[in-house]
Amino acid sequence: MSGFPIYRPRRLRQNEVIRSMVRETELNFKDLIYPLFVIHGKDVKTPVPSLPGVFQLSIDKLEKEVGEVVAAGIPAVILFGIPAEKDEVASGAYDPNGIVQEAVRTLKRAYPELLVITDVCLCEYTSHGHCGVIDNGQVLNDPTLELLAKTALSHVEAGADIVAPSDMMDGRVAAIRKVLDDNGFSHTPIMSYSAKYASAFYGPFRDAAGSAPQFGDRKSYQMDPANTDEALREVELDLQEGADMIMVKPAMPYLDIVRRVKDNFNAPLVAYQVSGEYAMLKAAAANGWLDEEKVVLEALTSIKRAGADLIITYYAKELVRWLIK
Ligand code: PBG
Repeated sequence: MSGFPIYRPRRLRQNEVIRSMVRETELNFKDLIYPLFVIHGKDVKTPVPSLPGVFQLSIDKLEKEVGEVVAAGIPAVILFGIPAEKDEVASGAYDPNGIVQEAVRTLKRAYPELLVITDVCLCEYTSHGHCGVIDNGQVLNDPTLELLAKTALSHVEAGADIVAPSDMMDGRVAAIRKVLDDNGFSHTPIMSYSAKYASAFYGPFRDAAGSAPQFGDRKSYQMDPANTDEALREVELDLQEGADMIMVKPAMPYLDIVRRVKDNFNAPLVAYQVSGEYAMLKAAAANGWLDEEKVVLEALTSIKRAGADLIITYYAKELVRWLIK
């Protein structure tokens, strides 16, 4: 291409009409997934201090909140459960009448067209807060698979449209695929948290879900933030095991991973703008240090530009308001 003055990049920047015609990346409310925390009780709406605008909701309040989500045109939610009781083996996770299972039934009854995704993990349900069963201070991989598969099946039996395993045990996609297929749910997709990093950006989520590990950390199962090639191996493995959608998490600190995964695999790619990313933006906005609407649009656009097809974000509702303005 010939250089200046033949090519003047500013020609296509002169006004908003031209800029919008040559814009390469567009945020769309149809690509959003809204995370929600559901808790036992009635009439409960407890704010999460580190996540302004996010609440622990009892099922009646959840139903109301989701009404707003549906009215806003957001096509999907992802549910996280906070059980009444926790134990060593996460019984609440696969209880057919557990908190998520009941929430799914209520939501699918009230909003049949809403896509209800469930997070499949044990950490909210274990007394020790780890994502698998523990023996001698170790998180055991293979014995955990059976519990994850049971959990996923119970969610789908309750009506979940998609299950999203977030535990990072090896082989969990295959285990879940098998149990779903064996029980007549061969059409239910799996959205796998494939490249999930051991990130400090999950801090506020653990306040919301009460799921912080009681000892140690998650580094023996979640990925080392320093690694890239390993993310590709994780994604490849999940696709081989039957994942229908893949995920990179967190999003903004890992945009290089989003791009590499998109370039290497032809599968729908989800990026999760996690609790810490949301909390950072909220805190800066509350202090008047950043223009919230502008930085959120920029942050989410960067996630799409990096290659994400879908975005899980606590900003979904606000974003829709900004997009239709
Ligand atoms: C459950 C799970 C976590 C998140 C999603 N699923 C927490 C964790 O792994 O510790 C984090 C989401 C967020 O920070 O918004 N394992």
